Amino acid sequence: MDNLGFLPISDVNMPFEAEINVLSNEVFSHGALNNKFYDLWRERRFNKDEFRIFTINYFARVHATTHRISLALTSIDDWVSRIEILNNLTDELGHGSRENVHVLVLARWIDSLGSKLGMDDFSVEYKKLGDQLISDKTKFFISETNELCSSGPMQACGALLAQEWHGYSQLALLYEGFRNYIDLYELDDFHDVGEYFYVHVGKAEKEHKIQANIIAGRNCRTSEDFEILKQSYYRYLDLLESFWCEIYDNIALD
Ligand SMILES: [Fe+2]
Repeated sequence: MDNLGFLPISDVNMPFEAEINVLSNEVFSHGALNNKFYDLWRERRFNKDEFRIFTINYFARVHATTHRISLALTSIDDWVSRIEILNNLTDELGHGSRENVHVLVLARWIDSLGSKLGMDDFSVEYKKLGDQLISDKTKFFISETNELCSSGPMQACGALLAQEWHGYSQLALLYEGFRNYIDLYELDDFHDVGEYFYVHVGKAEKEHKIQANIIAGRNCRTSEDFEILKQSYYRYLDLLESFWCEIYDNIALD
């Protein structure tokens, strides 16, 4: 009997598995991870204005993640891929526990460091996502990556591959910069609000990288598929590089 289509198929060959593994590692030499923003963030502490520019835009971008992953879920028909994507979404949404929702864990970190920098009214300000302080590049990143994830299965696979392979290192780089502020905290408090980084670098993002390769591998059947996936992967990374470069420029010009 033919497979009924709607049943998960565990075993599929992945003809482009090796090429996808090579492609996923391209992020390490890309400007999405190698840019002036990360250099500055790790080099010295930010002042209030710099921290405001950085976190308002970063929060807006991270806030858009669950919607983008949901778009990818509906673009990809393969059920095993959908299960992997759902696993990723469940992590982002805190496994049903509100306080563990990643965007709220991020909000706790921003609120904490903002108050250490003397920005007592900042919490209210950055949560207004329609705020003019969200830059055009951030809005462009959100709309373009949503478009990638809803354009078709290979575009969605390429975007997910870039998102997840970039994500782990992004959090590691941001954590390294956060250590510049360690003497503003009691040791336990520093690590308590550092939860935002630990939850990603410790477990979630490692699994998401493997999941993204499985999803891409299962859906990529032809060289044409691989080409679309590759273009989407680089497009996503290029958008990330522009996002960070604009934040750096706005900080440097300020
Ligand atoms: Fe996350």
